[in-house]
Amino acid sequence: MTPMLVDPFQRAIRYLRVSVTDRCDFRCVYCMSENMTFLPKKDLLTLEELDRLSTAFIGLGVEKLRITGGEPLVRRGIMTYFNAMGRHLESGALKELTVTTNGSQLGRFAQDLFAAGVRRINVSLDTLDEAKFAEITRWGRLPQVLKGIEAARNAGLRVKINTVALKGFNEDELFSIADWCAREDMDLTFIEVMPMGDIGNEDRLDQYWKLTDLRARLAERFTLTDLSERTGGPARYVRVEETGQKIGFITPLSHNFCESCNRVRITCTGEIYTCLGQEGHSDLRGPLRASEDNGQLETAIRAAIALKPKGHDFDYSRQTVEGRVSRHMSHTGG
Ligand code: GTP
Ligand code: 5AD
Ligand code: SF4
Repeated sequence: MTPMLVDPFQRAIRYLRVSVTDRCDFRCVYCMSENMTFLPKKDLLTLEELDRLSTAFIGLGVEKLRITGGEPLVRRGIMTYFNAMGRHLESGALKELTVTTNGSQLGRFAQDLFAAGVRRINVSLDTLDEAKFAEITRWGRLPQVLKGIEAARNAGLRVKINTVALKGFNEDELFSIADWCAREDMDLTFIEVMPMGDIGNEDRLDQYWKLTDLRARLAERFTLTDLSERTGGPARYVRVEETGQKIGFITPLSHNFCESCNRVRITCTGEIYTCLGQEGHSDLRGPLRASEDNGQLETAIRAAIALKPKGHDFDYSRQTVEGRVSRHMSHTGG
């Protein structure tokens, strides 16, 4: 029998998100400041250590593994790690190996990802307007990302688009983004902006577009049917009856979903964060390196999960930003 990881609130941990780098080739304004200081490369877990750590979690009952960053596909040699994780799909221990990416490197890696056993990927994209894309990502170029998405689909990968709902920025593109996803047969998920990290002058309250409002706008044109199906992540989905497409909503602010949380996160230096919205974390690199045997490591994993908090404290309801965490999203990969 698989030894399960269960937290103090009786939530079974089946989903591991591994951030393989804190670096990124974009500088999205709601995610990073213009001048970011990144971790020295010597602090990173090696690809072999990432393998050993992930494999230990899979041995403890993790069934879904999502590789994140920063931008995961800018980590040198990353396909070695994906290929290594493919063996857990073959053995049946892992049900899904997947990635969240900004799409910039998919032209290079889409076929390799498919070959490693990845079948479904999430691509972050907040606008289909080239000038706005350059503005929001600071460094990104839309045509490169669109080509990357095309390469992914040609390689046989199913693509879900993740769009952060940003007031005054992509409100006017709600239907154009939804139509584009329907035409291209891609699922779409909207995300509420969370107060993570210092991002310079941007104000979270100005950025915040409540997904209950976004949903109401969609419902003016479309018939939305709630779906009970889940992907293992926090999104709740509807089917758009007119187009048949699936649209998801990730609502940490307007509707807290922490009670069904099934996931923990590892950073590229081997820290475990058991909640995206809290500061608490524990070190796994020390126990990993202390011994070739996994005993200490497993003890440290269980001890960290015993401290998993009930949920985040993000809250904008009093017109102030409450529950902010100091680290950037790129530290733990969302
Ligand atoms: P699926 O497998 O398609 O369900 O993906 P996912 O939603 O699990 O992963 P993805 O990387 O696409 O996550 C989208 C975003 O959801 C993340 O970048 C975060 O912004 C948010 N998110 C994911 N997990 C949590 C969580 O536990 N708490 C909060 N507050 N937000 C989360
Ligand atoms: N709030 C919500 N989503 C964010 N992302 C990055 N920063 C934030 C934030 N502060 C999103 C990215 C990507 C995913 C990894 O997290 O757009 O879709
Ligand atoms: Fe990079 Fe993603 Fe952060 Fe944008 S949101 S800067 S693509 S890590």
